[in-house]
Formats: sequence, C-alpha cells, structure tokens
Amino acid sequence: MTNFSLFTDDISTLNVKTIVLAVAKQGEEAAICQSSLDSQIIAELDTHLPALGMDGSAGSVVTTIAPAGISAETLTLVGVGKLDELDAEAFRRAAGVATRITKAESVAFDIATSDTEFAALVEGAALGAYRYDRYLSKKATRIESVSFAEEEGRQSQLDAVLKVSAAVSLTRDLVNTPSLDLYPEKFVELAREAIADLPIEIEVWDMERLRAEGCGGIVGVGQGSSRPPFMVRLSYSPNAATSHIALIGKGITFDSGGISLKPGLNMENMKSDMAGAATVLSATVAAAQLGLDTKVTTYLALAENLPSDTAQRPSDVVKIRNGKTVEVINTDAEGRMVMADALSLATELNPDAIIDVATLTGAQIIALGNRTAGLMGQGEVPDELAVSAQETGEPMWVMPIPEETAEANSSTVADVQNTGGRPAGMLVAANFLSNFVADFPWAHMDIAGPSYNTGAPWGFTPKGGTGMGVRTLIDYLISRQPA
Ligand code: BES
Ligand code: MN
Ligand code: ZN
Repeated sequence: MTNFSLFTDDISTLNVKTIVLAVAKQGEEAAICQSSLDSQIIAELDTHLPALGMDGSAGSVVTTIAPAGISAETLTLVGVGKLDELDAEAFRRAAGVATRITKAESVAFDIATSDTEFAALVEGAALGAYRYDRYLSKKATRIESVSFAEEEGRQSQLDAVLKVSAAVSLTRDLVNTPSLDLYPEKFVELAREAIADLPIEIEVWDMERLRAEGCGGIVGVGQGSSRPPFMVRLSYSPNAATSHIALIGKGITFDSGGISLKPGLNMENMKSDMAGAATVLSATVAAAQLGLDTKVTTYLALAENLPSDTAQRPSDVVKIRNGKTVEVINTDAEGRMVMADALSLATELNPDAIIDVATLTGAQIIALGNRTAGLMGQGEVPDELAVSAQETGEPMWVMPIPEETAEANSSTVADVQNTGGRPAGMLVAANFLSNFVADFPWAHMDIAGPSYNTGAPWGFTPKGGTGMGVRTLIDYLISRQPA
C-alpha cells in the first residue's frame, strides 16, 4: 500500500527518489509551472525542456536527472497542456501519468495548486499508483510513498480523497479478477469483507430464495452455471439522512452469452461484466467510510452466464419479481434480465431515486465510444448525475429513451421481449429496464466501454478495470446530504 502524506521540509532537501513538476504549454513555448524550487534552477530547467522533448502537452512525461543541490535523484516532468486552459482534470491526469509510469519508490509533488486542484492532484496520483499484479510471479514495483506540500486544511482533503480512490481501486481489483476466482458466491464473500467494520447491513438471497420470491430473471440467467447466482442487498442508514438512494449493479461474473454463445474473439474481456456491481459496492463502502448523511440501499445482481444443459434457452418465458413476463430471445441479453429483478426489488423500498450501473450493451460503445458512459432514465436523476460526472471529470452523456424503443421490446407471447433489433441498442436496453422501475426517478448508467480499458493506459487510467463511475456516484451521494 502506498503511503500518502504531506511534507513541511524544504523540497530541495526532501529525501525522495523523484520530484514531480508540471510543465504547461504557453504559446509555442513550454514552461515549468509554479513550484517551490529555487527560481534560478527552474529558469535553467526551462531552457532544457526542448532538448528533453518536453513540450508540455497533456499526457507527456519525461524523467531526468535532478540538478545539483537537490536531494532527490530525478525529476519527473509531466505535461498539463495549455496554461490558459488548465483545470482540475488536467492536474488529475498529469499526476496520474507521473505515478503510473514512475519507477521511483518515493515521490514528492512540487506543483502549486488551488484547493480544488489539490484534491484532483492527490486523486490522480492515487489512481495512477494503482498496480494489478496478483498473478505475476515478478511483482510490479509499487510506490511506497507519495507526498505533497503541507498547507492549511489539506490533511482532511487528503484523507477524503484517499477514501474515494480506495473505492476506485476496489472496483478495479474486482473487475480485473478472472472469473475462475470471482464467481457469484465469491463476490458475496468479498462484499462481506469490504463492509466489515462499517455500519452497513447485508442481506443475501440464494437460488432457492430467489425462486421462492419470484425473481425469474436472475434465476434464468444463473441456472446455466454450476456456480449459482446470488442477490445481495447492502443497507447504509445514517440517522441524519433525509434522502434515500437505491443503487443497483449488474454483476455477471462471466458473460459467455449463454446458449446464444458469443464469438471467441475478445470473450476474455467478459470477466469485466460485473463492473456495475463492483462500482455500486465500492460507492456504498465509500459512503459509509466518508460518513455521508445519505441513506443508500444497494443491490448486487450476481450470476454467471454460461451454456449448459440446464441453461435457459431462447424462447423461454420467465417472470420477473414485479410480475411482468419476459420472452428470452437472446440469452446474451442477460444483464437486463438480472437487473429487472434487482430494480423491481428496489422499488419495493420506496427510494427517492434509483440508479443502476451496468456493462449493459456493446451498442453503448458504438454510440459513445470507450470513454463516455451513457446516462438514461426518467425524472431529474440522469441530469443530476451528469452534473456529478462533470464535477469529477468522468465523461458521461445523457441519452433519450425514444418511444419507438417500446415497440422494439414488444413480444406476442410475453409482456416484453429481451432484445429489439440493431438500431439504438443502448436505448432499447434502457427501455427494457424502464418496465421495472415503476414511476420512480431513475437513472441507468451504461458503462460497457469505459469500465474496462482494452487499449493502452492513459492519464490515471490503467489497462483493464478503470473504476469509472465510482467517483460520480460518490459525488452524487454527497449532493443528496441534508444542507
Ligand atoms: N455484457 C454485454 C455487453 C458488453 C459488450 C459489455 C461489450 C462490454 C463490452 C451484454 O450482456 C451483451 O451481451 N449485450 C448484447 C445485447 C444484445 C444480445 C441485444 C450486445 O450488446 O451485443
Ligand atoms: Mn451478454
Ligand atoms: Zn453481459
């Protein structure tokens, strides 16, 4: 575990391996941003930036030997982009680049910031320091310590940010864990571990109870695996709360498609199909750790979607918890089936808002790409979440649920069917879910692309699980506290 702290000593005498400085673009020139190093040293360094190939552009980074008179061995120069366009996100990403690429085991940041920028800097540094090496014989080099200049009020800022980044790391770890080692029952066990010592209650539904209580969606999806499905409810109920938010997460620990088997290419990425459940679990843990005055009830819909002689078939009709029947056209549209039961259960508690998070559709990636999540729903919640997303720097975009999507989901043998053709696949899936939320204010967040990075690492985002969505949810829960 990396230790994060504040330093009071003179930066030049600090006993660290590397000092991180920011470099901004000013017109055609690059220049080191305000730091506490001697101004002559900075001026000298500035003249060498072109030779170092450092132009200050966002995402750029170079490590160079530290000048004489500085205790640190190296300087890590990170680009923050144009000086006149600097915002918190620029600092978040640059700090993430520094801690993601550095080989140094101790890092000190020497970048002057406002309070908001400071929080972003710490967050980026913490998120970039993440390593996933559970299965590597040769472990990754971990950063032992990261420090920032002490200023008034910063210790409490640091503490809060670290709780949030720990929640993001928890999500990443869960998403990165192969399905061999993360199956529904194991997820339940890990959820219990994550809430141990926190004021969160847990209730677990096994296959028998799910059948008895009419949860035909999750039963149908889970019945094809010898590793049975579970529904988990977490309850965080602070006394002072005036608002009650229900969070629902899709927890398909592996999505093979079932009898409607997926092609083999890239199927390994479907270990990440539980990212929604990991996201809402982590946000709930963070809410309790931050002591938020918002009541949160969280459902994790956990199942493994596999083909077998006990698997559900295309043409099967199942009944969801709220009484609606669904014709299963494609067993690969399994997320919406397990979410239907979880959403129905959530409505029974009369929450003020329901938010579901799911790696629901490949169509999300076609519509919005690999970094921007889709927000849909009813009432004010999608727009409110978009505000939180903007605050935290997580790209999300509000999309409609057009009326014709209802026709796409209509069936002649059941109340609805679980697929609806190629056009607007993300919106059709959202329309399907709308059958199970009654009239409650509701947002559906499709994180199929952004939750799992199959490309190169960038900013504070590693390859694999990203934890995208956790910070937006926490910001939203903070905004629901009594004034
Ligand atoms: N888990 C997938 C969606 C997905 C695809 C997530 C790619 C991340 C990356 C989901 O269960 C699925 O298979 N959806 C189908 C729905 C279709 C059968 C209507 C899809 O998007 O193709
Ligand atoms: Mn699927
Ligand atoms: Zn899926």
